[in-house]
Amino acid sequence: MKAKYQGELTFGMIEPAAGLNRALDMRRSDIISEISKSRMRGRGGAGFPTGTKWNLAAAAISERKYVVCNADEGEPGTFKDRVILQEYADLVLDGMTIAGKAIGAEEGIIYLRGEYAYLRSHLEEVVEARRNKGLLGAITRGSTPITFDIRIQMGSGAYVCGEETALIESLEGYRGEPRNRPPYPVDTGFNNFPTIVNNVETFAWAACILAKGADWFTQVGTDKSTGYKLFSVSGDVEKAGVYEFPMGITIDDLLKEVGGTGAKAVQIGGASGHCVPAADFKRVMAYEDISTGGSVIVFGPDRDMLSVACNFLAFFVEESCGQCTPCRIGNVKLLDGLKKLQAGTCSMTYLKELISLGETMQIASKCGLGQSSPNAFLSIVKNFKEELMGRVSE
Ligand SMILES: Cc1cc2nc3c(=O)[nH]c(=O)nc-3n(C[C@H](O)[C@H](O)[C@H](O)COP(=O)(O)O)c2cc1C
Ligand code: SF4
Repeated sequence: MKAKYQGELTFGMIEPAAGLNRALDMRRSDIISEISKSRMRGRGGAGFPTGTKWNLAAAAISERKYVVCNADEGEPGTFKDRVILQEYADLVLDGMTIAGKAIGAEEGIIYLRGEYAYLRSHLEEVVEARRNKGLLGAITRGSTPITFDIRIQMGSGAYVCGEETALIESLEGYRGEPRNRPPYPVDTGFNNFPTIVNNVETFAWAACILAKGADWFTQVGTDKSTGYKLFSVSGDVEKAGVYEFPMGITIDDLLKEVGGTGAKAVQIGGASGHCVPAADFKRVMAYEDISTGGSVIVFGPDRDMLSVACNFLAFFVEESCGQCTPCRIGNVKLLDGLKKLQAGTCSMTYLKELISLGETMQIASKCGLGQSSPNAFLSIVKNFKEELMGRVSE
């Protein structure tokens, strides 16, 4: 399997506006059918089927609807959306405009990560150029004229604002805290109007699917995870960067392509993902096995996995919004326990309590942050027992 490295991605081979031009001549329902037929699942991590999301928003009856591009990209080890926005912004905007037509929205918002402020002027220029070409604003080139425009709103560097309901709170000018779900954004989103929130990469692939057809997309991948996916690869590898692979690639094959053979572990899905040991490198990156938003952090043989777990948990202690107790207190307790392990003062009984706490957080936390923050700790304890047990006190 040949990897595509940044600069050679499929996105660069799609003719400008090809997907959008086709969509503008299609009926709304046909656009959604094409996306549904591709069986694409959202590229932001949770993997919700994009066609289903668009269909729900299209069916909602409302005077106003919104298309939101989630460009918050705060997951440690993830940087593919930054590359897409820098190199292929037009494709993302094509995808947002296609979504606007499909669901009946006239406004799109790019929620841009605070740390990506340097990308803002580039994106503003692309938006302006599209208005001048009649690809935004009053769009008359299709069979039925539509109105759709896009603006950019900055985030302020809170990881939790990548969670779609916290993102919407932040867009509305409130503190970025996750909402209770249901209701879901497709029904009650930005300013209480039906809203689709999709990842940057999802919009770019949507434009490709309209350009090349759903059958082209389903040619690769697995039954439940169709198409191509971008991966942000970092850590102990020869060539870090953004890669494109078909979904379903094994960790082994990926490591061969990026120069990471000899690794002892790979963290898939960022700090909130899972730490996979070398014995499991035959596993595949797909929703039916290891689901991922695309972050791959490779750990070489000399890495101390306890330090890795501490590092991730320190991040979650900092980033928990504090709204619910399991996450607000749980992450602090887990980090505290890991520091005890490092100091050789954590007993086996206490370690078992920490494991039980982590499992409770997975089910009792309000949003994905607290539900997934113990994942790295739990998988490291499970898969690197020998490394950790030597540090347990009697
Ligand atoms: C704590 C947290 C952070 C998230 N950060 C992002 C993010 O930076 N970008 C993103 O696309 N999705 C992020 N998500 C997932 C979003 O809530 C949502 O599922 C996604 O934007 C939907 O888009 P998709 O269906 O195209 O993947 C995050 C979720 C959680 C729980
Ligand atoms: S799980 Fe954490 S981030 Fe999510 S609502 Fe609770 S405290 Fe906030």
